[in-house]
Amino acid sequence: MTPQPLDTAATEALLAFWRDAGVDACYLDAPVDRTVFVAPPVAQTVQRATASITAIHGSRHGGLSGADAVGEARRLAAAATTLDELAQAIVAFEGCPLRAMGAKQAVFARGNPQGSFLLIGEAPGEVEDARGEPFVGQAGQLLDRMLAAAGLADQAFITNTVFWKTPGGRPPTPQEQAACAPFLERALALIQPKAVLLVGAAAAKSVLNTEEGLMKIRGQWREWRPAEGGISAPAPTPALATLHPAFLLRQPQAKRVAWADILSLAARLDTAKVEPNA
Ligand code: URA
Repeated sequence: MTPQPLDTAATEALLAFWRDAGVDACYLDAPVDRTVFVAPPVAQTVQRATASITAIHGSRHGGLSGADAVGEARRLAAAATTLDELAQAIVAFEGCPLRAMGAKQAVFARGNPQGSFLLIGEAPGEVEDARGEPFVGQAGQLLDRMLAAAGLADQAFITNTVFWKTPGGRPPTPQEQAACAPFLERALALIQPKAVLLVGAAAAKSVLNTEEGLMKIRGQWREWRPAEGGISAPAPTPALATLHPAFLLRQPQAKRVAWADILSLAARLDTAKVEPNA
């Protein structure tokens, strides 16, 4: 068959279709037709079995097992004495599997390091991956408007539970979050905020170490006690979970409860101004 000239418009349409379906990265040089079943050679079957055992007992990434990755993250994070050093340590860290899943760069933080609260979201998205800053897309703009309306515009230091975008914008896995957690704990220790705002279920569950649903725990003040063996902050920090702004964009009627949470945060920070130990 004579090869047909590449139809640019058709190719772009196909890429747009894949992108909308969540396919936003390529892992192999050539496409694999998965509609055709080819029995794998025995050696490959053994390799696959080994891979799934590794996935169950601790995935391997960047040459590190899950446990080794957490150890390496702790070592790098502990050596960082400033937020700039912490940002460099994150860039140097190869233990998070998300690094090799299509992310352009590490996305650490934006905002006021001397601000009164630390805001933790889920994971950078496409826009954040391109710009290198968290919460700068549509959801971030809504978040900024809400914070500004509550008088908290310049009070937030903003980061995420993981520092690389996830494929297709899926929530980060507990393993990915565990690999990044030592950096988050170090940020907490360096900033010593008066409170932490956890934005969305993935942030709330991971930081508060709970399986409770977001709708149950949002609006309740809890404490962030960094995991045993982690780098502890001077004291447990008050933490409040709220709804994710991306959810609010899809479900505007939920803004009312999220707004109540933001006001609760503003009130708590105001109290903290008067009583530093509150
Ligand atoms: N959603 C998040 O949770 N974090 C970002 O940085 C952007 C979108």
